[in-house]
Amino acid sequence: MRKPFVAGNWKMNTDSSSCVELSEGIASGATETASAKATVAVFPPFVYLPSVIKALGTSNVSVGAQDVYFEANGAFTGEISTSMLKDIGCTYCLCGHSERRHVIGETDELINKKVAATIAGGLLPVLCVGELLSEREASKTNDVVTRQLEKGLAGLSEEKASAVTIAYEPVWAIGTGLTAKPEQAQEVHDFIRKLLANMYSDELAEAIRIQYGGSAKPDNAAELMAQPDIDGLLVGGASLKADSFLAIIQGAI
Ligand code: 13P
Repeated sequence: MRKPFVAGNWKMNTDSSSCVELSEGIASGATETASAKATVAVFPPFVYLPSVIKALGTSNVSVGAQDVYFEANGAFTGEISTSMLKDIGCTYCLCGHSERRHVIGETDELINKKVAATIAGGLLPVLCVGELLSEREASKTNDVVTRQLEKGLAGLSEEKASAVTIAYEPVWAIGTGLTAKPEQAQEVHDFIRKLLANMYSDELAEAIRIQYGGSAKPDNAAELMAQPDIDGLLVGGASLKADSFLAIIQGAI
């Protein structure tokens, strides 16, 4: 059985006081459920990571970064390394979020380097994949997801790949209020799991967790999670209020 994994991607939101308030709200509500029935994590902006880690205290809510650079250190102005993230207490790192692919312009090759560096640095990557609306309309969803997974995981041994969580986030469902229908998401999750079985093994494919992201909310969490291959949710907007994020966790377990 794969343990549900519910994570909040705060994107470029919160400030020095609201990040603490939000963390405390999540910590007080999530402690019991988080430890027993689900993995819970939040992905705050870089500058608030230490405050969030402190505010979450001994709760079982883990913390991750929204991005990372693949080099260990040196003259890379503005970038953050995996060892810095590890040093301050991060557990996870998002790699290849759709906004980094489509707004910032990250390539599959760069994302692959970030995934590999994240694992080498002792962090757990969440590799995000998903198609644009135009790609779905052109029946290219499976092709896009195949390319993003094959290139994103290129060169990784089965042991290393087993550290990865996949997040399927159809771009047309992100921040639009337009959630994928549970069956639509399930179809792609099933496809991703079969692809992982081909790339690696049935064992790896069965064990790896595949999150859905894209307008996940308290009122659709349970029906999405009822699908056999949806193992968790990567939540954007609805993770910015403790009440709604906690309600999503409840819906997911
Ligand atoms: P929304 O939940 O706001 O659609 O964002 C999803 C997402 O991009 C999470 O990484």
